[in-house]
Amino acid sequence: MCGIIGYIGTDRNAAAVVLDGISKMEYRGYDSVGIGIWLDNSLQIQKKNGRLADLVEALGELPVSNIGIGHTRWATHGIPCEKNAHPHSDCTGRFAVVHNGIIENYAHLRKQLTAEGHHFSSDTDTEVIAHLVERYYQGSLEDAVRKTLPELQGSFALTIMCQDEPDKLVAVKKDMSLIVGLGEGENYVTSDIPAILSYTNQVYILEDYELAELTADKVKITNLKGEPVTKETFPINWDQVAAEKGGYEHFMLKEIHEQPTAVRETLRGRIKDGRIDLADLELDELFEGINKIYMVACGTAYHAGMVGRMAIEKLARIPVETDIASEFRYRDILWQPDQLMIVISQSGETADTLSALRHAQRNGVKVLAVTNVMGSSVARDADRVIYTHAGPEIAVASTKAYTTQLVIMYLLALYLAQERGTVPPAELKKLINELGEIDNALETVLHQEEKVRELATQYYNVQDTFFLGRSLDHAVAMEGALKLKEISYIHAEAYAAGELKHGPLALISDGLPVLTVITQDQLVDKAMSNVKEVKARGAVVIAICKENLQEACQECDEKVLIPDVNPLLAPIVSVVPLQTFAYYMSVLRGNDVDKPRNLAKSVTVE
Ligand code: AGP
Repeated sequence: MCGIIGYIGTDRNAAAVVLDGISKMEYRGYDSVGIGIWLDNSLQIQKKNGRLADLVEALGELPVSNIGIGHTRWATHGIPCEKNAHPHSDCTGRFAVVHNGIIENYAHLRKQLTAEGHHFSSDTDTEVIAHLVERYYQGSLEDAVRKTLPELQGSFALTIMCQDEPDKLVAVKKDMSLIVGLGEGENYVTSDIPAILSYTNQVYILEDYELAELTADKVKITNLKGEPVTKETFPINWDQVAAEKGGYEHFMLKEIHEQPTAVRETLRGRIKDGRIDLADLELDELFEGINKIYMVACGTAYHAGMVGRMAIEKLARIPVETDIASEFRYRDILWQPDQLMIVISQSGETADTLSALRHAQRNGVKVLAVTNVMGSSVARDADRVIYTHAGPEIAVASTKAYTTQLVIMYLLALYLAQERGTVPPAELKKLINELGEIDNALETVLHQEEKVRELATQYYNVQDTFFLGRSLDHAVAMEGALKLKEISYIHAEAYAAGELKHGPLALISDGLPVLTVITQDQLVDKAMSNVKEVKARGAVVIAICKENLQEACQECDEKVLIPDVNPLLAPIVSVVPLQTFAYYMSVLRGNDVDKPRNLAKSVTVE
């Protein structure tokens, strides 16, 4: 979705830094792009509907400047086109505004400003901000922004330049993420950490209504009243290399291959002497007396929650309800003080997940967040946070974030079981050890890549697919189908295998590929009955099955074998061939694998 980058400094060319920052944010998904720089004693704005490459071409020789802002827009208010791209300006062209989020009362403000004589040149909500700043400007950009903020309803991350004060940028946010990067004789502002990772890893994470005034030499943070705010710098522990393709054709393939490392990093320090150690997270108060958990997330993270539900219920004997964040608020929840919400979000910025989190807190229920992005909105707003250590995930299709989310689900389930004594100690210890070694199984399953690629070459022209599984395998089937949909644009239906004959069996026809996940030893006979049902109707069955079950899976047309891991932990491993299948199907269809159509990495609108 939308992305912001801003630079001020003496050592580098602002235009180059801004364009570089935009290139690092491209993965978020966008439809138009623009920059604003100080050049020839005036504020100059260039925008393009389309990709960054189109803007670079339009710019020609790169202008040299020491201050600039840039933006990638994902259209919400107004179609994707040049006039709606950011930066937006006022009537006089003195201000340039880039904005992430939605100004909910923009229609009312626009009417008011139009009546005052302001002229609008776009259909966006953002443009009202530029005109409000123009209305309030009396020689100080910070003061004008401070007067503008109370007028705005909705969510925003803003960075603003002013022609009359070409030595500063002003940045502020509410309910969106905005980070100030600190350098020597230069400073940065961005909504997305990878955009500035090659320049600095020391940042301030802005809180709502903290106003940052960036000059080349310093960053001054004040509150709405103009009083100084003291902030701690926050070190980002991602490195630039992790945010680059490193020889892989696509980020997604690289991220699939990074899963053993990501899982190891997420487990690091969490298993000691056969016990789960989460002491540093101070979770005990949160878990004290808990009798019910709501697990809330979107998309892939929701699928991780489905696995989390089964693991926690089985091991810790606590009832868990899993729900889609965008639907959660419509439920009339019977809130009780002995409940806990766990939200899962790779980006930590998903608007629906954030709103479910706040809904729970308003009703007196504490929230534990599972996220990959330090200092993200979800991380800051939750009562406690537990990080996945997947490193930056750039491809829109989530892979290593998902497997690390699963790891956290198991860590939580095992920890709760350990503290509540719900699993016999020897059994618990065995499971903990098996989780500690799951990275080896991930390494092994990656060797199936060639087999999976061959399968993709056979099936990449199909229009429909089915994904089946029972119990934990159903959660993995859901994730496999989502992966295939989002990057190959092939219709993929995921079903609990037992549900098939209650309707969807009517859709099975000759030659239809059915991918079935078979890792649950006790369910193999039932799973094979479903295989027979679809085969009898002409389907071709591709099984992702555990090595020890291959005899039982004989009747499947194709088998991709995964190592014989504990069935409870199998989702971490069995999802990998499905991710790889989706990847190659997308490549063979000539799609933009890392940036699939219509989708964004971080979904910051509800
Ligand atoms: C995953 O492949 C998808 N791109 C999507 O479902 C994603 O998981 C979902 O939008 C939630 O995002 P989050 O984890 O950042 O909250």
